[in-house]
Amino acid sequence: MNEYEETDMKQCVKILMVAAVILLLAGAGCAKKVKETEDSQLGLSKTSVFDNPDPVLASTTAGEPGENQTVDAYFNEAPPMIPHLIEDFIPIRIGENMCMECHDLPDAIGQEPAEGDPTPIPASHYTDLRNDPGTVTDHVVGARFTCTQCHATQLDAEPLVANTYAR
Ligand code: HEC
Ligand code: HEC
Repeated sequence: MNEYEETDMKQCVKILMVAAVILLLAGAGCAKKVKETEDSQLGLSKTSVFDNPDPVLASTTAGEPGENQTVDAYFNEAPPMIPHLIEDFIPIRIGENMCMECHDLPDAIGQEPAEGDPTPIPASHYTDLRNDPGTVTDHVVGARFTCTQCHATQLDAEPLVANTYAR
């Protein structure tokens, strides 16, 4: 190693040491910036995770089928909300679909139901949209069998997260 190479080495070591110190300081700075999340901000219930809060009970004004007004659609093509109670009709099972007992009215499709009568299940539900979209069959297709997968009931509950969606 000649004299020049030796000074180069020393320079290099110096630079590396300075770089290491800068990195250490930067690291310490970063560590300080991490903000801790408060217990109370972890879930939708804004209290400590050690609390056992009593949520406000939600209620419904829905009555038995036949006693209710239908709910306006929130957007075009939205599955209409179920305006009546459904406790007695769920769960939907392969051999027992109470929703169909009242709503499976293929002969009445396209007719306005009389006050208090069920809305007929529409033609789209009798059509296999994936394999044979042009054909209206004589039965509700499997993809539409579990009505509650798409149709939901109403509840008068304070939303846990605010929503600004407008029709
Ligand atoms: C005993 C008969 C009956 C049963 C069982 C029943 N419904 Fe209904 N449904 C009605 C009637 C009647 C209406 C009209 C609104 C009203 O008066 O409650 C209706 C309205 C609806 C509507 C609103 C349609 C629109 O035009 O906006 C939907 C959706 C619906 N029902 C879905 C269901 C689902 C899903 C089930 C099963 C979990 C079900 N219904 C079980 C009788 C019934
Ligand atoms: C995959 C989602 C889905 C499933 C499952 C489903 N629906 Fe629907 N339903 C919709 C959508 C979307 C609409 C509105 C567009 C349309 O008419 O196809 C609708 C419309 C309706 C309507 C209103 C018809 C009208 O003329 O206004 C009734 C009644 C209904 N469905 C009943 C049922 C019943 C009963 C079941 C179970 C046997 C069921 N649906 C299963 C998505 C679904």
